[in-house]
Parts: sequence; structure tokens; C-alpha cells
Amino acid sequence: MIFKNIQNQPPDKILALMTAFKDDPREQKLDLGVGVYKDSNGNTPIMRSIKAAEKKWWEIENSKSYIGLVGDPAFSDAIISLVLGSNIPKNLIASAATPGGTGAVRQGFELFKIANPNVRVFVSDPTWPNHISILQYLNIPCETYRYFDNETRGVDFDSMVVDLSRAKAGDVILLHGCCHNPTGANLNKQQWQIIIELLNKSGATPMIDLAYQGFGDGLEEDAYATRLIAESVPETVIASSCSKNFGIYRERAGLLMLVSQDSSRRKINQSMLAFLNRQNYSFPPDHGSRLVSIVLNDTDLRSDWMSELEDIRNSLLNLRIQLSDELQKISGSDRFTFIASHRGMFSRLGATPSQVEKMRKEFGIYMVSDSRFNVAGLNYKTVPALAKAIIETGL
Ligand code: LMR
Repeated sequence: MIFKNIQNQPPDKILALMTAFKDDPREQKLDLGVGVYKDSNGNTPIMRSIKAAEKKWWEIENSKSYIGLVGDPAFSDAIISLVLGSNIPKNLIASAATPGGTGAVRQGFELFKIANPNVRVFVSDPTWPNHISILQYLNIPCETYRYFDNETRGVDFDSMVVDLSRAKAGDVILLHGCCHNPTGANLNKQQWQIIIELLNKSGATPMIDLAYQGFGDGLEEDAYATRLIAESVPETVIASSCSKNFGIYRERAGLLMLVSQDSSRRKINQSMLAFLNRQNYSFPPDHGSRLVSIVLNDTDLRSDWMSELEDIRNSLLNLRIQLSDELQKISGSDRFTFIASHRGMFSRLGATPSQVEKMRKEFGIYMVSDSRFNVAGLNYKTVPALAKAIIETGL
């Protein structure tokens, strides 16, 4: 009975919500849980550019043999340019394709543990719950830094700086490059500059999770902090995801990047990333990353993809404005304008778990218990229902 000692594992709270929603027989139910983009009909469509790339690839793909341990260089080159622009010389960047952004996060954490067995990882309070879960799974000590001000629903920057000043050389500071998950509250340019000074002063290493590039203020704007940090500190680790901005969730495409200002390190860094892939899953999946590189390397497909992404971004912004206006109208106060200033797929409402439960029980509205809701789960017809539920729940 080798397995008699294994324990039942608590379900991931975001994924558990997907099941609870499916099982709810009510017609008027509203899924604002898991971070998947939905159009105004509630569907998660395949992007036109991705469909076209898929067709193109089906016609020319003539083998399913292995590609390379770190994936196809066309994919890494395309993502490196998308994320880092052209300011950082390629000979400073090591990279490996991974199964989705989560794969890159996991490999990044393992890399830190190999580099420093005593590493501590500082995560924002709150952060994506799976960050903490993976760190615990890997036995990596996790420290939190204050991030969200529950009163203003903005960033509690002063407290963030105080908490991060505890970090030392050998520690890691995990940052969300844009569109903070779960809060939707983000740093401004001056604040990023202060974080860079803090990183350089302490010697701690930044790791940036970039899962929503293009969903906030635009493709370039959303890469601003990542680029600035990677240019300004000795070493940066970046976990980038293609799940959301290319809409290829189930294909699992991501890239782990390790930028070192010392070009003599690149060969070693690259070999380490290849080794990590080999130990964990050998070759990374090819299909999703292939579609991404086809789209990014074809002028027409790329511009079509950019306009599709821009439509998604604008629809999120419009829903934010509509909800904020509706709440202003029915509450007669401006205490909900933070929804319009948040960016990305999520906002944290600042409701208590029992208020969140009331929204689910009485109104069939599903959001994560910390009151994170997926803006893309709304459409212009359902916004008033959410606004009404928010007010009637006592927020
Ligand atoms: C989310 O935060 O909802 C997404 O990143 C999906 C996930 O895997 O949790």
C-alpha cells in the first residue's frame, strides 16, 4: 500500500469555482471566476490570426519529430522582442519555452532554488494563489509584502516599500509586470523607478510574472516595467505567458527568460534552462508556441492579431467604465471609480467572503472568495445585474 499515506488535496479555489458554476442550474448565473477572456456572448473564441496560423501550419508541417529542449528559436526570439523590445542585446538573454506561463513560473522558482538553496521569495499580498502553492510545494520559504489598500482599492505603495526593504541579496521579489492578479491595481512609472532603486540597493533579484501583456494599457505600455527592470538591475527572471493574449489557454505556451547584464553568463544560463526542461518534462509543447511565432513573424497576421488584442483590451476598459458609472448612478457615490482605474482582466472589489457568498447564493454571481472578479465575464447587458448585486450585498 504505497499510497496509503497520501492525503486528499484541497481543490484550487479558482478551479473549484469553475465546477461550482457548471453545477448551478440557474439560468441567470454569471461566471466572473477563472481568468479566461469571454466575448459578449460568453464564448472564448479562437482568435482569427491563430486560426489562420493553424491552417498555414497544418499545410506545411511535415514531421512531429522533436524540435529542441528549449523549443523553437523562432518562438523565443519573437517573445523576447515582444516582451523586451530591442533595448536589451540578445546575447544577454537565456530563454526556454515552457508549458504555459505557469510552467515558466515553476521553472523560474526551481532555478532560484538551485542557485540559492536558502532563497526566500517575496510575493505581493495578495498574489495569484498558485504562486504560493507552487512555492510551498517546492519547499521555498515565501514572504509577503503588503500591496493592496482595501480602503482606496489602489496600491499601498508606502507599505510595499517598507516590507520590501527586508529583502536581501539572495532573495527574490516576485512582481506582476502589468495587470496585477488578483487586484487590478498597478504601480505607476515613478513607483517602478523606486522599486528598481530598492532592488539595486538590496541586491535582491526580481522575477516578473507577465501573463496579461496587451490587456492593460497596450502591448508596449504593459511591457514598460519589465523592460525598465531588465535594463536596470544585474539579473532578471521573466515568466511570460501566451495563454491570454493569444487566447491559446489549453495549448500551454510560455517562455522563461533569464537576463544577465554579464554576457559571459549567457552560455551557462542557457545550459541551465535546457537542463531544467529536460529534468521536468524534456521537450516543451510545440503547437501553441508555433502558432505564436507564425503570427508574430507574418506582417498581416501580426497586425490582425494586434487589432484583435486591442479589441479585447478596449472591451475590458469599456466594461470597467460602464460598471463604474452604473455603480455611481445607483449608489450616488464615487466610491467605485477604482474599477475604471484598475487594469487587466481582474478587479478586487474589497468585499468580505460572506458578501461574496451572498452574491453567489442570492444573485448567482460567481467570483473568487477574496472578491476578485473577471471583468471579461461581463457584457453590457449583465453589468447592471452585477452593480445591483454589489449594492444589495452592502458594499
Ligand atoms: C486565473 O488567475 O484565473 C488564471 O490565471 C487561471 C488560473 O490558472 O488560475
